[in-house]
Amino acid sequence: MQTHTPDTGAIPADSMPLTALLSRHSIGPRWMVAPGPDDDQLALAVQAALRAPNHGRMRPWRMVTVSEAQRPALADLFEQFARDSGKSEEDVAIERERAFNGPVLVAWMARIDTGVAKVPPHEQWICVGGALSNFMNALHFMGYGAKILSGRKCQHPALVEAFCAPGEQLVGFVCIGTPTRALEPREPDEATGLLQAWSVPAR
Ligand SMILES: Cc1cc2nc3c(=O)[nH]c(=O)nc-3n(C[C@H](O)[C@H](O)[C@H](O)COP(=O)(O)O)c2cc1C
Repeated sequence: MQTHTPDTGAIPADSMPLTALLSRHSIGPRWMVAPGPDDDQLALAVQAALRAPNHGRMRPWRMVTVSEAQRPALADLFEQFARDSGKSEEDVAIERERAFNGPVLVAWMARIDTGVAKVPPHEQWICVGGALSNFMNALHFMGYGAKILSGRKCQHPALVEAFCAPGEQLVGFVCIGTPTRALEPREPDEATGLLQAWSVPAR
């Protein structure tokens, strides 16, 4: 596997998978620079996404890359959202700037089918989340930093039309690049109470 070794805390090649997994943290686009993953590395991350549990083989997600050359078109869509939301000129400019975040940008779409009794919508969403997590973890294992960003703009009709086929929802955008600082937790993980033994209810 082609791995990428940034200066900031690259994962040792002989890391146990679990050690590597426990060190994943999101990093914001302001803390990332080029290069981002190349096409082969992105394809590998997609393979990892496909390894997520997937009830009924529905695979209710897909993604598209937004190239460098396409960022101005994305900025126009972000601007449209900002103007329709009544934002100030300053905030419109901030929203436009967000389209240029991340050396590599990948939009995620979900396609939730409400008519499948065996795989209800919540299970399909879990499949989407699992795939997205695997995608993020694979990027981390390859030495890249990434962050999922969404916001209300993902429901704006202009963005939905630009990214989604009929029946799809825009989940968000994954910004990916080389981290310029060590990955840090926003707060310590607290696992207390998340795993308990089941108490059989009295009947
Ligand atoms: C679908 C989805 C959308 C998200 N959208 C945003 C967002 O718009 N803005 C934001 O600050 N964080 C957003 N987050 C959270 C961050 O991507 C990140 O997970 C969070 O900051 C926690 O950091 P960690 O991943 O290191 O635990 C989103 C997460 C998910 C799963």
